[in-house]
Amino acid sequence: MQGCDGSVLLDASYDNPHPEKEAPVNIGLAAFDVLEEIKAAVEKRCPGVVSCSDILIYAARDAASILSNGHVHFAVPAGRLDGFVSKAEEAQAELPDSTHDVQQLIDNFARKNFTVEELVILTGAHSIGQGHCSSFTGRLSEPPSQINPAYRDLLNYKCPQGSNPPVANNVRDEDYGVVARYMPGFTSRVRKIPDFLDNSFYHNNLAKIVTFHSDWTLLTNKEAFGHVVEYAENATLWDEDFSDSLLKLSKLPMPAGSTGEIRNKCSVVNHRLY
Ligand code: HEM
Repeated sequence: MQGCDGSVLLDASYDNPHPEKEAPVNIGLAAFDVLEEIKAAVEKRCPGVVSCSDILIYAARDAASILSNGHVHFAVPAGRLDGFVSKAEEAQAELPDSTHDVQQLIDNFARKNFTVEELVILTGAHSIGQGHCSSFTGRLSEPPSQINPAYRDLLNYKCPQGSNPPVANNVRDEDYGVVARYMPGFTSRVRKIPDFLDNSFYHNNLAKIVTFHSDWTLLTNKEAFGHVVEYAENATLWDEDFSDSLLKLSKLPMPAGSTGEIRNKCSVVNHRLY
């Protein structure tokens, strides 16, 4: 929320009972233990040198490279500091939401100086990973003009009433049997190894088989739609532009005048604030 300052890694504490990670909009965030493990290993070798915010960016860089088979790659400058401010309320109010329409997304990204094109490029990250059913409840009753009815049936099957499991963002990462039952024409595209980071999000979007309303809504703005088509047609261009946009995201500064530190442990600030 305050730039790339590792604030999302902070746990609840006496001083700060509701940090960002507790915001409902952050339901998908996980693997904090992996970051903590990396930090502990780095601290052992060179204590007090590498911030958690730098480690988080390096992890994102490496994950993007590994999951794209090396197609997404960029060099990340170091030197971020870890922040002290982390508020669930602020995250909930300011992060984009899966129910947002395209204009809300455009305005949200513009507030951080990102263009419509960069909004479309970055949303392509939804070619990997998962979303909880609660993040796409509204999609389950949208009309065929907004969601492929067979895909809607598949999602309804994956989201039985009263439970909130995570579901693959990309239908090609879904169980083979489930795809065979609901979208038999799609079975040849089901992958044995899930989570390949590529431009498939744009193909899926044009076919109305994306999970979130916020994904689909990109088709409803002329400029955004043009970029969806552009990246569906040019996989290499997306790899390159995604690398640039993720690098730009990693450089979001803390507000002028803010202070920071190099945390000893990523989930807690070094000193209690009272
Ligand atoms: C355009 C605004 C965006 C919205 C509204 C949005 C919304 C969401 C939601 C609701 C989820 C699922 C959370 C859950 O239910 O577990 C999700 C997952 C994900 N998002 Fe986004 N997102 C946006 C932009 C981005 C960007 C810019 C990136 C990265 C560059 C990104 C990468 C991901 C990834 C990788 C996942 C899967 C996480 C996992 O598997 O645990 N998203 N997003």
